[in-house]
Amino acid sequence: MVRRLLITGGSGLLALNWACAMRENWDVVLGTHRHRVSLRGATVLPLDLGDADRLSRQLAELSPDLVVHAAGLTSVDACEADPALARQVNAELARNVAAAAAGRNIRLVHISTDHLFAGTRSGYREDDAPEPLNEYARSKLLGEEWVRQAHPQALVLRTNFFGWGHAGRLSFSDWILQSLRAGREITLFDDVHFSPLLADALAVAAHRLIARPVDGTFNLGGDERISKYDFGVRLARAFDLPESPIQRGSVGAARLQARRPRDMSLDSGRAKALLGTGTGSLEEHFQALRRQEEAGRREELIHAVTE
Ligand SMILES: NC(=O)c1ccc[n+]([C@@H]2O[C@H](COP(=O)([O-])OP(=O)(O)OC[C@H]3O[C@@H](n4cnc5c(N)ncnc54)[C@H](OP(=O)(O)O)[C@@H]3O)[C@@H](O)[C@H]2O)c1
Repeated sequence: MVRRLLITGGSGLLALNWACAMRENWDVVLGTHRHRVSLRGATVLPLDLGDADRLSRQLAELSPDLVVHAAGLTSVDACEADPALARQVNAELARNVAAAAAGRNIRLVHISTDHLFAGTRSGYREDDAPEPLNEYARSKLLGEEWVRQAHPQALVLRTNFFGWGHAGRLSFSDWILQSLRAGREITLFDDVHFSPLLADALAVAAHRLIARPVDGTFNLGGDERISKYDFGVRLARAFDLPESPIQRGSVGAARLQARRPRDMSLDSGRAKALLGTGTGSLEEHFQALRRQEEAGRREELIHAVTE
């Protein structure tokens, strides 16, 4: 029997790509909020994650085998401007989803972030003490804590990903590729480091992890630590685009509303040991992103979400 997968934040960057990665083998349901979604191979279910009782009833009716909680308030500056909203979306809704899934004994993957640390060194591990610098990080950290309390068997994944977005939600890689294709100059920080992976690779690794009897918190980033500037240059090369429009910038000189960690790189050794493999080099992820575009993923996702 085909297993059912419910993904919250169904109009988001991660949910859409996760659905594409799994739709051949799973009955995928995208839980939506304000935006409307239409995606081949997935059904759509409007969810009010703020209504715990109704959510619990909806989960009972739908009876998914796995819930991936990918809804969130992801704009760091929006979270800084409205900490109460950040806490409500990133912590309270996460707790509701976790409680509803736990009540039905449904496995849960909760998507957290690489943004939880001060960023004064590299390769953060799961047991390093978080030191959130901004409201986004504080709300995601609280979300993790409440998810673990409400659903002790949940898998909490700290990560950073890229992939094809929709017209209203360009990803970091979309923005770089679109800019270079339009001949626009862009500035990328060479003093901010991270360890991203392709959204599909994250989904595949997460499904392999959840198939095992494991719970708790796992880092699930890419195999490489890289600066945002070098990420852009290597992405340009992988897509045969000129790298000369990419200028080096410094986060220190940028006037950003919220403080941001300069190093968000994760040590994903714990997950890799269980998986028996790495999560893939950036070159592999970029080539996969390119193959996705050739196969029509970019076009498909651009039109998948409407107001
Ligand atoms: N993007 C990254 O590189 C990155 C890095 C680390 C961690 N993460 C985490 O990964 C997860 C997915 O990120 P993403 O980039 O895919 O997000 P995204 O593209 O910004 O999408 C966010 C999703 O959350 C939904 N949402 C927002 N407020 C909601 C509410 N009040 N109730 C229900 N749904 C709500 C949105 O629906 P509407 O638009 O319809 O409101 C949208 O579907 C998030 O938890 C994020 O913190 C992301």
